[in-house]
Amino acid sequence: MYSRIAGTGRYLPERILTNAELERMVETSDEWIRSRTGIERRHIAADNELTSDLAYQAALAAMEAAGIGPQDLELIVTGTTTPDQIFPNLACLLQQKLGVHGTPAIAVEAACSGFLYGLSVADKFMRSGEAKYALVVGAETLSRITDWTSRDTCVLFGDGAGAVVLEASETPGIVATHLGADGHYGDLLYVPTGPSRRNPVPARDDGFIHMRGNEVFKVAVRTLGGVAEDVLAKAGLGKDEVDWLIPHQANIRIIQATAKRLDLPMERVVLTVQDHGNTSAASVPMALDVAIRDGRIQRGQLLLLEAFGGGLTWGSALVRY
Ligand code: UT7
Repeated sequence: MYSRIAGTGRYLPERILTNAELERMVETSDEWIRSRTGIERRHIAADNELTSDLAYQAALAAMEAAGIGPQDLELIVTGTTTPDQIFPNLACLLQQKLGVHGTPAIAVEAACSGFLYGLSVADKFMRSGEAKYALVVGAETLSRITDWTSRDTCVLFGDGAGAVVLEASETPGIVATHLGADGHYGDLLYVPTGPSRRNPVPARDDGFIHMRGNEVFKVAVRTLGGVAEDVLAKAGLGKDEVDWLIPHQANIRIIQATAKRLDLPMERVVLTVQDHGNTSAASVPMALDVAIRDGRIQRGQLLLLEAFGGGLTWGSALVRY
């Protein structure tokens, strides 16, 4: 038994924050942001919108595309680094919003790799025959943990949610997934806040994303090419067989470096970083949905999904769409 993608969906909050607006908030320029990151705009959740609200909208769109309803789901997996609250976990809150009872509700925390970690978990459930339909969602309100006075980070992040409905299938589907992490790089990208650290509250417990961007950049470039090659090797497929690269959308220069290592022209790479910024766990499923809905990705094509983020964590998946 395998799993296959039956439908995808995404949700982006209405409010768009442009580089021009950021120029008025911190000492930066549209030119710097575009040339160093590729980002032109990002969406920001409304004050009353929570990560679970974004996840819910993306899930509805994915289920509609798959032609199923919430009652068909037998597993819910979420990836997020900005949950509404400590618990109930995001998957439980989403389950409640969907009006579903009884399914396992698993929340994965692997920062920007959260969706790929979640996809891999769900795929393994389905391969063992435990679920016919699973919902996997990556959702974030990174704007809530962004220090809007720091130009080092505030120009980078955005909010959004992407969702995939997986369906049990006798043919793959998800051909292979490959996950990894190296906790020794934890201090390159982190949020210092957490319940167990509040004893007493440390001075740097500000609740914001901290990143040594340049060092993360170098590890990302070094790791991501390898991550793509690892999953291809696992599946016994060559890089020339990949139709589309759907990378984590953190920085266009990192994406270009990965594409180059795969000998893939940029026309075969789905890019949303210009419109979404870095949306962490939401970035890959939103990019996937964009290219499926605009008709670029066709049934039968081979997709390479990959992500990299805090932890440091990384993951890749080869998907026959
Ligand atoms: O999603 C999880 C994984 N995250 C990533 O993959 C992000 C990886 N890192 C990056 O994308 C890049 O490192 C950044 C976009 C964060 C930064 O780009 P960079 O080319 O590595 O720049 P840098 O940090 O080396 O900074 C270059 C210069 C510095 O000035 P000096 O020291 O050369 O005078 C910074 O102070 O750019 C300055 N700078 C800015 N200037 C204008 C940093 N941020 C800004 C800004 N506007 N927003």
